[in-house]
Formats: sequence, C-alpha cells, structure tokens
Amino acid sequence: MGTRLQGRVAVITGGCSGVGLAAARKFVDEGAKVVIGDVNAEAGAAVAEELEVTFVTVDVTDADQVQALFRTAFDTYGSVDIAFNNAEILPLDDESILATGPNIWRGVLEANLTSVYLCCQAALPYMLDQKRGSIINMASLAAVMGSATSQISYTAAKGGVLAMSRELGVQFARDGIRVNALCPGPVSTPLTQEQVDSDPDDAERRLARIPMGRFAEPQEIASAALFLASDESSFITASQFLVDGGLSGSYIPPI
Ligand SMILES: NC(=O)c1ccc[n+]([C@@H]2O[C@H](COP(=O)([O-])OP(=O)(O)OC[C@H]3O[C@@H](n4cnc5c(N)ncnc54)[C@H](O)[C@@H]3O)[C@@H](O)[C@H]2O)c1
Repeated sequence: MGTRLQGRVAVITGGCSGVGLAAARKFVDEGAKVVIGDVNAEAGAAVAEELEVTFVTVDVTDADQVQALFRTAFDTYGSVDIAFNNAEILPLDDESILATGPNIWRGVLEANLTSVYLCCQAALPYMLDQKRGSIINMASLAAVMGSATSQISYTAAKGGVLAMSRELGVQFARDGIRVNALCPGPVSTPLTQEQVDSDPDDAERRLARIPMGRFAEPQEIASAALFLASDESSFITASQFLVDGGLSGSYIPPI
C-alpha cells in the first residue's frame, strides 16, 4: 500500500475493464478514494465489492448522468481531485472512411469524444473551487500517428480528445488544474483481444512493428495514469503522454 494518492478522490470512467480497472486497483493501492462510472452495472457491482470503491452506473454520453457521477464523488468523499476519463467503444465495423457509415461515425464520436467533453465539463467546477485537480483524458497513439489499418471514427475521436486536452491544459494551468492526454499504443485488453481473434494476421503485423515486440499490459498504462494523477507530474500539463513501447519512435527503412 502506497501513499501517492492519499487523501485524493478519483473518478474513473470505464473502470470495469481493461486499463480503467487496472487504474482503479492502482489508485486504491495508493490511498485514493475511487468512484467508478461505467455502463456495465453487473461488472460494476463485482468490482465495487472487490476493491471497496463506489460504483455508479453511467452512460458517459448522457450529460445528466455524467453530472450525477461527479456529484456522487463530491457528495460521498468531499472533493473531486482526479478525473480519469477513459471509457470508450471500438466497434469492429469502424474501419476505412469508404466503408464506415454516419451512424457508426456518430456513435463512436459520442462515446469517445463527447463523453470526454462532458466529463471535463462536470469535473472542472469542483477542481476550480479547490484550486487543484488532475484530469487524464484517454487518447491513443492513433491521435498522433496515422494508422495503416484505419478505424476512422475512433482516430478522429481520439484526435479530438488530444486537441481538447491540450487546450484545457493551457486554459486552466494557472488554476492549479492539470489536463493531459494519455496516448497508449496497443494494449492487451478484452477490446484488443476481440480484434486479435477476428484477424490474427493483422495482429501479427502490428506486433512486428512494435520495437518491444508485444502489446502493453493494462497495468503499464495504469502506471502512467497514476503518475499523471499524482503530484509527481506536477509540472506536466497539456501534454500528449505517449506510452507505446517505442512505436512512435520507430521507423522501418524501405530497403
Ligand atoms: N486497448 C488498446 O489497445 C488501447 C490503445 C490505445 C488507447 N486505448 C484507450 O484506453 C481506454 C481503455 O481501453 P480498454 O482497452 O481498457 O477498454 P475496455 O473495452 O476493456 O473497457 C472499456 C470500458 O468502458 C465502458 N464503457 C463503454 N461504453 C461506455 C459508456 N457509454 N458509458 C460508460 N462506460 C462505457 C465499458 O463497459 C468498459 O468497462 C479507451 O479509451 C481506449 O480507447 C486502448
């Protein structure tokens, strides 16, 4: 048990699975009071019992439900110090722009970008009152580099998350609030497992391009979120925080 988040209250969206669940474990281990918001009520009940955290069933695309999530954190624990806006969807039929219809596009933009806007909008008033806060918005390497296997709506949403986080980081820097975009490369989670299972050749091609030769474990991304949440990153804001096993720094020469 550590003390890096002792006395802090953290809201984590999408905390029932993958990176969000790993972050919830780490934040609790480091002394934070954690409130998980996730649409999966069944998993939420189990996670709440196991980790002794507060769980709120929330659809992060619904403004009223998001407001209620952050209000629950404040009413239960007295502050909102950390917002890890991490929930998302990645439908398999989000692909090339030539094949992706407007319904998929709008759904992914709602779940992956509008949701982050709503969470920041809900968290900021508490943080401004406290003159303290760390917002970590989950972006992706796809926000920084063009993907050869396109997921056009996801990429556009994550690019929006990155740009919005940068601007919020600048706007609120003198209010004691830091806002950073976390940009992981591929992570080994149920979401990526679904893709690996559906196209093993594609998975093999992706692995070959990662200098470390593997996907990240969720705990490794959660460690980065913990760093950004804690005072150890006190001079880091408006950043694109890359955690990608060297992928963005690598280059395969044509000959
Ligand atoms: N897995 C990767 O390779 C990878 C790479 C880069 C970035 N990311 C980002 O990391 C984050 C976490 O990814 P993951 O792989 O752990 O995902 P995951 O699918 O394992 O978990 C996503 C969680 O979000 C919840 N959720 C989905 N829609 C929701 C909604 N409308 N309201 C509330 N909760 C909702 C789900 O119930 C689930 O618990 C995402 O933002 C993802 O884009 C993942």
